[in-house]
Amino acid sequence: MSNVIVIGTQWGDEGKGKVVDVLAEKARLVVRFQGGNNAGHTMVVDGESFISHLIPSGILHPDKVCLIGNGVVVDPGVLIQEIEHLRGRGISVNPDNLIVSENAHLIMPYHKLIDHGRERVKGDKKLGTTGRGIGPCYEDKATRRGIRFCDLIDEEMFKDKLSCILGEKTFYLKEFLKSETIDEAAILEEYLPYAETLRPHVANVSVLISEAIKAGHNVLFEGAQGTHLDIDHGTYPYVTSSNTVAGNACCGAGIGPTRIDAVVGMVKAYTTRVGAGPFPTELEDEIGDRLQEKGAEFGATTGRRRRCGWLDTVVVRNAARLNGLTGIAMTKLDVLSGLDTLKIATAYQYKNDTLTEFPPSIKMLEGCEPVYEELPGWTEDLTQAKHFEDLPENARNYVKRVEELVETPVQIISVGPGRQQTMVLQDPF
Ligand code: GDP
Ligand code: IMO
Ligand code: MG
Repeated sequence: MSNVIVIGTQWGDEGKGKVVDVLAEKARLVVRFQGGNNAGHTMVVDGESFISHLIPSGILHPDKVCLIGNGVVVDPGVLIQEIEHLRGRGISVNPDNLIVSENAHLIMPYHKLIDHGRERVKGDKKLGTTGRGIGPCYEDKATRRGIRFCDLIDEEMFKDKLSCILGEKTFYLKEFLKSETIDEAAILEEYLPYAETLRPHVANVSVLISEAIKAGHNVLFEGAQGTHLDIDHGTYPYVTSSNTVAGNACCGAGIGPTRIDAVVGMVKAYTTRVGAGPFPTELEDEIGDRLQEKGAEFGATTGRRRRCGWLDTVVVRNAARLNGLTGIAMTKLDVLSGLDTLKIATAYQYKNDTLTEFPPSIKMLEGCEPVYEELPGWTEDLTQAKHFEDLPENARNYVKRVEELVETPVQIISVGPGRQQTMVLQDPF
């Protein structure tokens, strides 16, 4: 029996959905613990693609139970749409296999209006958020004015909490952001039916996880975003509003740290970022365009073109420390085929100093030039490789060099979006 956390080491979109879908085979429960529908996790099974924003990426396995922990911020309308979409594609989603924590906070219509309004007011200084209301919802959670699932399913409580908070939100939207507003009647008309639909799915997630662990089942925790979008450890303020690091799996799901056995860090074989913020190894040239095109680097949530660049092991090493990584899952190695030379950043040059640790200040980060090591590329197509030995020597050397630089074993290698295009060299469970 063991419990494994999967998190992103870079700026998100490393392929967490794919690897969680593969590892879910071994688990009984798959648990989301932070973020919301800013996430977009892709699973490709038998040529069919599924993108999950809120529902954990174990949902395609009929015998698994998917839990949305207290640390997730949930837009109930999006959750219902996602349930219906999956049902429409023949996937069974019901109160036995999808459960939401009673303590999870609700994204309300005013959170989305505030998110959009603030980005508009910031103009070219905007963060490039996903516009899903994530930040404003976590803000209300921290100031103790949030509305939770336990409130939603208690009509009186929901009405009370809403009427307490709405005046202030309306004032801020109208007077400060010069934005449209939404009135109480409209919110009640939309949200009270959500309560009826979702009530059977609401339960105590912490207790369910504890019972599963006692019964000897494996539990898989699915991170969203990536370590460098973490509110404390990322490129603040160009971050999301939650802790994305592995430590938050415990807070956001309601379990203790003694229950965790392994932490798998997702590493894309190169680097991408969506939205604004520093990105030392970004390539604004034909190699960047090539990675973007060959890697089909468009956001799974907003459809935005992802910025692309070389692999940065200053970033991945930072993530190895912050998350206590026990292993790496490397994705998209296939995308690097056909490049003569590959570069890996091993340090940053900042003025007269060589930095080997990721600097905390974004001003400093913006002045950093990556120090690269060059490795020979390969031309072979990797997408059919089944074993490490099937990879060309230069691809194997690339993987081994990352292991050395990050001082963490590569346990999984992914060479295509499909579930089968995965080599599990060491099983994290
Ligand atoms: P997540 O947010 O970390 O789950 O990642 P996304 O789903 O947003 O983005 C990863 C994208 O890469 C998706 O389109 C996946 O289908 C795709 N993908 C995942 N692994 C591989 C791989 O090894 N090779 C290729 N070519 N595509 C992959
Ligand atoms: P997954 O789980 C990549 C980015 C946004 C923006 C910043 C803040 O699919 O890896 P937010 O809406 O969270 O307030 O936006 O964070 N962002 C992501 N980038 N992958 C994600 O999730 C992301 N979730 C948020 O682009 O820069
Ligand atoms: Mg994504």
